[in-house]
Amino acid sequence: MSRKVIIVGNWKMNKTAAEAKAFIAEFKPMAESMNNVQVGIAPTFTSLAAAVEAAKGTNIMVGAQNVHWAESGAFTGEISAAMLKEVGVQFVIVGHSERRQYFGETDETVNKRTKAALAAGLDVIVCIGESLEEREGNKTECVLKTQLNGGLAGLSAVDMDKIVIAYEPVWAIGTGKTATPEMADDTQAFCRKVVAEMFGGEVAEKVRIQYGGSMKGDNAAELVAKPNIDGGLIGGASLKAASFAELVNNAING
Ligand code: 13P
Repeated sequence: MSRKVIIVGNWKMNKTAAEAKAFIAEFKPMAESMNNVQVGIAPTFTSLAAAVEAAKGTNIMVGAQNVHWAESGAFTGEISAAMLKEVGVQFVIVGHSERRQYFGETDETVNKRTKAALAAGLDVIVCIGESLEEREGNKTECVLKTQLNGGLAGLSAVDMDKIVIAYEPVWAIGTGKTATPEMADDTQAFCRKVVAEMFGGEVAEKVRIQYGGSMKGDNAAELVAKPNIDGGLIGGASLKAASFAELVNNAING
């Protein structure tokens, strides 16, 4: 089965609304020739409205970096799925390792956020990944299985159509250390096996699994060429229009 490549820039806490608009203006003409790939960006909450407006009529998807699970209420500082939907975003990233590490995200809260986003009609990129200590302690598979079992608990096969999994080894994020294509592919094959155990083989064949962690223009092609790597979740290399475009083009034209 061929799965459509999906490449998303996770801008983390970078770029004002004005900077997001400038990026899209520069990236737009480059994106026009990007076929057979889904390309998206995830700006900060305060840049979403401007980014959605700037991306109208283009093939650039806009998503958020987090969402709260409640519909509304006394949750100071939080944003609901309906609020994101109203702004016009298509997807949301949930469970990024930085949220797990610095903001107390757990598999249970990942699951609640995912369900709330799906209920509002948003697509969800669910992030998983092991730390260096866990990899060196041979715990990678156990950690990923626990994150998948917890994060995707209670979803249906139909829900899984709207889910993309991002495998981001924590030790490769922002460090310049990339997992080798073989290592990432083996690990992502394991993730697909866990999805098969949870939802059956058909869902596992269909679900797209991105790799994230120091993916750049010069390593994207060999990573995305691997059978279990269906795209990338990109931090640093997504912040400049030219380098992000180069990465996307290398990934799809290999
Ligand atoms: P880098 O591409 O900067 O390593 O970040 C990866 C990431 O965390 C994307 O979500």
